[in-house]
Amino acid sequence: MNLRPLGSSDLQVSQIGLGGMPLSIAGRPSRSEAIKVIHASLRAGVTLIDTADVYCLDQSDIGHNEKLIADALAQINGAAAPVVVATKGGLQRPGGAWVTDAHPRRLRSACEASLKALRLTTLPLYQLHAVDDDVPIEDSVGALVELRRQGKIAHIGLSNVGVGELKRALAVAPIVSVQNRCSVFERRDLSSGLVAFCAAQKIAYLAYSPVGGGRGKARVADDPTLRAVGARHGVSPFQVALAWLLSRSPVVIPIPGASQIASAIDSAAADGLRLVAEDLSALDRAFPV
Ligand SMILES: NC(=O)c1ccc[n+]([C@@H]2O[C@H](COP(=O)([O-])OP(=O)(O)OC[C@H]3O[C@@H](n4cnc5c(N)ncnc54)[C@H](OP(=O)(O)O)[C@@H]3O)[C@@H](O)[C@H]2O)c1
Repeated sequence: MNLRPLGSSDLQVSQIGLGGMPLSIAGRPSRSEAIKVIHASLRAGVTLIDTADVYCLDQSDIGHNEKLIADALAQINGAAAPVVVATKGGLQRPGGAWVTDAHPRRLRSACEASLKALRLTTLPLYQLHAVDDDVPIEDSVGALVELRRQGKIAHIGLSNVGVGELKRALAVAPIVSVQNRCSVFERRDLSSGLVAFCAAQKIAYLAYSPVGGGRGKARVADDPTLRAVGARHGVSPFQVALAWLLSRSPVVIPIPGASQIASAIDSAAADGLRLVAEDLSALDRAFPV
């Protein structure tokens, strides 16, 4: 698997990551099946796993995905390359809803809970899950700076931000990653200049829902252009969608989710797909900005 730097940090990660969300939300597979999915991904060379305290069913289930990943890593027993687990804080799940709470006090307790769930002494990358309308981003990021000073987190990332919020955060702390929704269907950060800004600042851009999210699965599978390009290379349309993201900028790292072993193995193989000019122009025509 080819590696990409995790922003300006000292970490290098596989250029295709694994998104843990489908393993822990409604419709999730059994625990043993979920662990097999994570193992399949690691055996395929993935060394970045994205998670969050809130990848679970509801507030009573907080930490489900983090505990699952900790168990999967313990069971694989050092048989795979060292893995960077990137988690997040700043949301809650009352009654299964997704509610922002990025007060410093809340981020401090969420970080403690994530350390416990992941059985780590330092979180390699801790991401602010979303900006809280009631809390200035400087205050939320300030709490992460304090956690970093205490050695509880190594690097700070942001999620669901625009360029303006990123600039405000950068005035408070070094930011190594931005995680936003991005795919052939959702090119906003490519056209707005956010991805280019990340590249100029040496910030990794983690593309979430890179095959369009849960509902995007059928859209990718049925799309005539993704299918045609895939057929030319003998690969799935999903690999085409992921390789297209990789071709956008050297800072982009797609983090496809998977609840099935076959999806995890197939997505990791997008690392080996090189799209040529003819493919890229066909995709540009099919998915205009
Ligand atoms: N920061 C945020 O606010 C935020 C929001 C959403 C997601 N995320 C992160 O981003 C990750 C990815 O996003 P996502 O899970 O919403 O959407 P996604 O990666 O676009 O994938 C959605 C579904 O597509 C299917 N799929 C993926 N690759 C495939 C392949 N090669 N072949 C066939 N099917 C494939 C999987 O189906 P199966 O389940 O059937 O395997 C997966 O569940 C999440 O897991 C999470 O870590 C972050």
